[in-house]
Amino acid sequence: MNDGELRELISEQEIAKRVAELGQEISDHYGDEPVVIIGVLKGAFIFMADLVRNLRFSPIVEFVRLSSYGDGVTSAGKVRFHLDIETRIEDKHVLVVEDIVDTGRSMVYLREVLLLRKPKSYKLCSFLDKHERREVDVRVDFAGFKVNQGFVLGYGLDHAEKFRELKGVYVLEK
Ligand code: IMP
Ligand code: MG
Repeated sequence: MNDGELRELISEQEIAKRVAELGQEISDHYGDEPVVIIGVLKGAFIFMADLVRNLRFSPIVEFVRLSSYGDGVTSAGKVRFHLDIETRIEDKHVLVVEDIVDTGRSMVYLREVLLLRKPKSYKLCSFLDKHERREVDVRVDFAGFKVNQGFVLGYGLDHAEKFRELKGVYVLEK
């Protein structure tokens, strides 16, 4: 694949502006309460890094690793849990940070697993919300951008493990 098949959807500047706004919104929401922020690897690693630097509080940072897609561009419909957090979340505020919510299956799965541990609150922040493709009931509490159908990559999001390093978000044109 060459760059000719990638079309820019969201620029680096637009992302920086929106992530700063999200940092404000999230900071206003939690105030001085302690928050455990759980990034979903691998896709959310860049968004998470930018987001935490826009918060006015100091979160506990954790990661989980889920996988729902193979190397293709369509969902396999199966979710696997590969890596767990190290912090106890009972009675703590939990904010999950995801790259993109598509069918919603991964986030339903993660929510079920984490709610069993009885956090004080549970919210979801996703850089992208592909709301038109939702198949299960998942609300994104803090969304960066809404995107429509089409496979997107860059800013952490991959296609077959590539293009995560791109500073903007691109749509893959066939
Ligand atoms: P869901 O379980 O269908 O909501 O799938 C969510 C996961 O699939 C995301 O965390 C991404 O890792 C991946 N995914 C969904 N859509 C895209 C896309 O357009 N580009 C890259 N990854 C995607
Ligand atoms: Mg993901």
